Amino acid sequence: MKKVIISPSILNCDYLHLANEIEKITAAGASWMHFDVMDGHFVPNISIGNLFLEKVAPHTKLVKDVHIMVRDPLKFIEQFAKAGAEYLTFHLETYRSAQKIKETIDLIHSYNMKAGISLKPHTKIEKILPYLDRLDLVLIMSVNPGQGGQLFLPESLIRIAKLKKEINKRQLNILISVDGGINEHTGAKCVESGADVLVVGSYLFKSNDFENDYRKLIK
Ligand code: DX5
Ligand code: ZN
Repeated sequence: MKKVIISPSILNCDYLHLANEIEKITAAGASWMHFDVMDGHFVPNISIGNLFLEKVAPHTKLVKDVHIMVRDPLKFIEQFAKAGAEYLTFHLETYRSAQKIKETIDLIHSYNMKAGISLKPHTKIEKILPYLDRLDLVLIMSVNPGQGGQLFLPESLIRIAKLKKEINKRQLNILISVDGGINEHTGAKCVESGADVLVVGSYLFKSNDFENDYRKLIK
C-alpha cells in the first residue's frame, strides 16, 4: 500500500488528558492532527474553536489540519491563521457564489496556509472541479458532518476515485482526504480508491490498543 497520511481527529478524544492523547498520536507515528470546528449553524453541534487551537498549537509539531464546519468561513480565516492552522478546510456548501469561494481560498493562501474544501456526502463531485487548480486539499466527507462515530458511506469510494481521476488528468498536486467512519477496512478501501489522507476519530480514540490499531491503518 502507498504511504498514507493519518490525521487523527481529536473530536472524541479524552479532553481531560489531552496532552496524553497528543503524545499517543505522536508516538504512534502520526504527522498530522485534525481539529473539527463546529459553529452550531452549519452543523447542529458546537465544538472547539480558534482559541482552543491557539492554546494547543504551540505544544505540538504535528501538522494542524483544521476542518471548519462554520456557516461563514470568510469571517474566521484570520483567526485560524493566527491560532496556528496549517491546512484550513472549509465547506463548499457554505457559499453559493463562486466568487466568494475563490475569495476564501485566496484569503487562506494570503496567510500562508494550505487551502482545502470539503464536500458533504450529497454534494456532487463536479461542483469542486472549477476550484481544483487553486486548492491544496479536497476533503471528502464519508459521513454527514457534525459528529463522530458514524458509519462510513460506501458510495464515498466512487467519489474519491472520480476526483482522483480528474486530479491525475490535470496533473495537479492536491491531497485527497477522507473523513468519517474510517477504520482499518474502510481506510484501506479509501486508499485503494485514491485517498492520500485518512481522518480518523473514534476508531483510534475508542481503541483499547491504540498503537496496534494505528498500525493496521497504515499497513
Ligand atoms: C465529523 C468530523 C470528523 C469526525 C470523524 O463531522 O468531521 O472529523 O471526528 O469521526 P469518526 O472517525 O469517528 O467518524
Ligand atoms: Zn473533520
